[in-house]
Amino acid sequence: MACPFLKVLLVGVSFLGCLYPLVDFSFSGETREQKPNFVIILADDMGWGDLGANWAETKDTANLDKMAAEGMRFVDFHAAASTCSPSRAALLTGRLGLRNGVPHNFAVTSVGGLPLNETTLAEVLQRAGYVTGLIGKWHLGHHGSYHPNFRGFDYYFGIPYSHDMGCTDTPGYNHPPCPACPRGGRPSRNPEKDCHSDVALPLYENLSIVEQPVNLSGLTQKYAEKATQFIQRASASGRPFLLYVGLAHMHVPLSRTLPSAEPGGRRPYSAALREMDSLVGQIKDKVDLTAKNNTFLWFTGDNGPWAQKCELAGSVGPFTGSWQTRQGGSPAKQTTWEGGHRVPALAYWPSRVPVNVTSTALLSVLDIFPTVVALAGASLPQGRHFDGLDASEVLFGRAQAGHRVLFHPNSGAAGEDGALQTVRVERYKAFFITDLLDCPMDLCKRDARPALHPLANEIQLTQNHDQEKTMQPKIYAQWLLLSASRRDSQLTLQALA
Ligand SMILES: *[C@@H]1O[C@H](CO)[C@@H](O)[C@H](O)[C@H]1NC(C)=O
Ligand SMILES: *[C@@H]1O[C@H](CO)[C@@H](O)[C@H](O)[C@H]1NC(C)=O
Ligand SMILES: *[C@@H]1O[C@H](CO)[C@@H](O)[C@H](O)[C@H]1NC(C)=O
Ligand SMILES: *[C@@H]1O[C@H](CO)[C@@H](O)[C@H](O)[C@H]1NC(C)=O
Ligand SMILES: *[C@@H]1O[C@H](CO)[C@@H](O)[C@H](O)[C@H]1NC(C)=O
Repeated sequence: MACPFLKVLLVGVSFLGCLYPLVDFSFSGETREQKPNFVIILADDMGWGDLGANWAETKDTANLDKMAAEGMRFVDFHAAASTCSPSRAALLTGRLGLRNGVPHNFAVTSVGGLPLNETTLAEVLQRAGYVTGLIGKWHLGHHGSYHPNFRGFDYYFGIPYSHDMGCTDTPGYNHPPCPACPRGGRPSRNPEKDCHSDVALPLYENLSIVEQPVNLSGLTQKYAEKATQFIQRASASGRPFLLYVGLAHMHVPLSRTLPSAEPGGRRPYSAALREMDSLVGQIKDKVDLTAKNNTFLWFTGDNGPWAQKCELAGSVGPFTGSWQTRQGGSPAKQTTWEGGHRVPALAYWPSRVPVNVTSTALLSVLDIFPTVVALAGASLPQGRHFDGLDASEVLFGRAQAGHRVLFHPNSGAAGEDGALQTVRVERYKAFFITDLLDCPMDLCKRDARPALHPLANEIQLTQNHDQEKTMQPKIYAQWLLLSASRRDSQLTLQALA
């Protein structure tokens, strides 16, 4: 299969230093009763099939599989968008991109970020007395007041955007391969082959750049150290904590300092998956050691695997999207096909979340915000609509059902960013655009009526597409409502959600 080269979207610019105003992180509140701690780990570009507990062909996630056996595994859990920034913005606001203003990715050159009138999960918890930390990738604006330290995080250690969005001297495995940072101020960009910007990727600790370009080879170990230190210090402070870990894995470039010495010469993706699994294991071990039974650990992903990266991308498991691959498309990252949108998800909270349970509830990254706010005993910010729901009844094994209706926004595959082109209603799914992905926008055919897909159509071994395309009356009614008010998506969302 031919693998198209990544088109570089970013244009090189010189890095402009930015002065941040001083900020006071001191806290004047007081916690009365013991509130739970939260650790939210978000993998990057991880496939549903990369989790061994989901997909028996994968054998690289021993720690995550153990967590699944010690907690709840969700098999119909969705990203809030199928690309990075919108997915993260939705996690931190509980709102879709159309509402929170982040329908597409931020670039190295972006001067804005997650709109400042949005309230982040970290801000809500900070006000409720929590110590808050972010380790890893932010990607919601890095200049001035968009920096994580001004969006509710007391502590920040990580990179401001994806690690292929700046040059490094340790480029790792990417497709196409990335050159090292230019020497002597001479730009090294080759427009044919370049895969990133010449701005050296910075590593931040709070407001300071502590390394530039970051050494990607040592990053995993640094994340593990900083995460365990944060948990240690926060526990010792006697205050509850929120730790949000935005992993660099499984996004390219994949690290080269992996256990490649392993017998059998493991392929880079598999080695990187093991490295990620080990990092998650270290964080979980630290939680178990310092704050077991009072810490809710939530593991999920921001979107599915990045098909254009070929053998350096993950596994969609059974969601091979037979229908759209037959049309020459791909079912992965950026699309709202299951492979791009359905993500691994695990909930672990000894003594609260039942052990070794598989949940088929239709849930979403959007639900993290309302759920965590409710469990922390805090209140949702006023004067706005949330697209997520409080899933705690499902988590505690007292309910089976999640969303009845869940919208999937377009995330760059074709059409307008953020537009609600796909809707899940129970077991069905409707698409407005049917010729999807890798198809230049002007070639994408817009159907007058949506294509309806029982989910089976996205799974291997699917049978006859035409037969499956038969419209279900109930779904069609929902769809008409959606298309009728497409220009006012907010109204549509409220009417259906
Ligand atoms: C980062 O900021 C937090 C909150 O003010 C502070 O406790 C911590 O010491 C800072 N860490 C570094 C390395 O500056
Ligand atoms: C933030 O401001 C934008 C632009 O004025 C507005 O559309 C949006 O609803 C505001 N968001 C909130 C949460 O108030
Ligand atoms: C990057 O870190 C690795 C592992 O910590 C180390 O072996 C290597 O020398 C470092 N590379 C550079 C360019 O600093
Ligand atoms: C956690 O809860 C379980 C069951 O209630 C109990 O057996 C165990 O001792 C608790 N562990 C800690 C570290 O508190
Ligand atoms: C988890 O459940 C499965 C099937 O229900 C069972 O085969 C397995 O032994 C259980 N694992 C643990 C660790 O309890």
